[in-house]
Amino acid sequence: DLYNFRLIRPDTKVYGIIGKPVGHSKSPLLFNAAFKSVGLNAVYVHLLVDDVEKFFEAYSAVDFVAGCSCTIPHKEVAVKCMDEIDPIAKKIGATNNIVRRPDGTLTAFNTDYIGAISAIEDGLRELNGATPGVGSPLAGKLFVVLGAGGAGKSLAYGAAQKGARVVVANRTLERAKELADKVGGQAMTLDEVASFHPEDRMVLANTTSVGMKPNADGTPIPKLALRHYCLVFDAIYTPKDTRLLREARESGAIIVYGTEMLIRQGFEQYKNFTGLQAPEELFRTLMEKHA
Ligand code: ATR
Repeated sequence: DLYNFRLIRPDTKVYGIIGKPVGHSKSPLLFNAAFKSVGLNAVYVHLLVDDVEKFFEAYSAVDFVAGCSCTIPHKEVAVKCMDEIDPIAKKIGATNNIVRRPDGTLTAFNTDYIGAISAIEDGLRELNGATPGVGSPLAGKLFVVLGAGGAGKSLAYGAAQKGARVVVANRTLERAKELADKVGGQAMTLDEVASFHPEDRMVLANTTSVGMKPNADGTPIPKLALRHYCLVFDAIYTPKDTRLLREARESGAIIVYGTEMLIRQGFEQYKNFTGLQAPEELFRTLMEKHA
């Protein structure tokens, strides 16, 4: 019973994930289980959407819809259809989380960057033995982002906002420059970043697709370079344990899995949708069970 049919009534709030394709998304599983766990009168469905602009025109007029998540390929176009955009989502130029206010207006958030950045911050706190919640352990850190696509932007803006010194390395230097300029950072190619180590204990975040199934034997940066990093994050989650993360672990770095970003961005969406804390253990258990 994916949709908790027994909970659905005329006043049930409807949430959903828009995408194309969308059928593979695990969000309905997670959110419906979460709604059920606290008896919320809400349902979350898959919404296969082709024309995002038309979708949102209709969407803001329907009062039982309460919010939606947004996935490939709609994250950028959706931003254009909003009444209000969270400042960082606006800078990133992408939204994955849209909330419909009672007056019908739509507000866009980006929880992808919060998911990744909070996972990285907790990793650093673990490493430093620092108290959770006091300042950002990213402040002043040299933060190297590999890739300059959608995920690269999220990580670069997120890290810059936390006071990190950002380096963007990308196969195509032009794209790295464009992003680095926007976050007040430095740009270089993937070849250059392999021998870039002005200091030790840097933070590395891979957002390129290098190392993703079916090319899981690839890695975006040579193992030798990893000695200079104290924490390595990989946005790839298929496979969970990428070659980059294995080599980082062998080099003595703390590692942060892409699955952690995925799960935490979901916690943030749940908070924005319901105003409640997410049932974190339930989300984690379901993700593992349905991996
Ligand atoms: P996402 O939204 O997941 O970030 P994207 O916007 O398509 O996806 O970005 C993909 C990133 O992976 C880009 O930084 C891309 O580099 P280019 O800007 O040079 O295209 C990087 N990428 C993809 N395939 C790559 C490869 N074989 N080697 C190096 N970088 C690669």
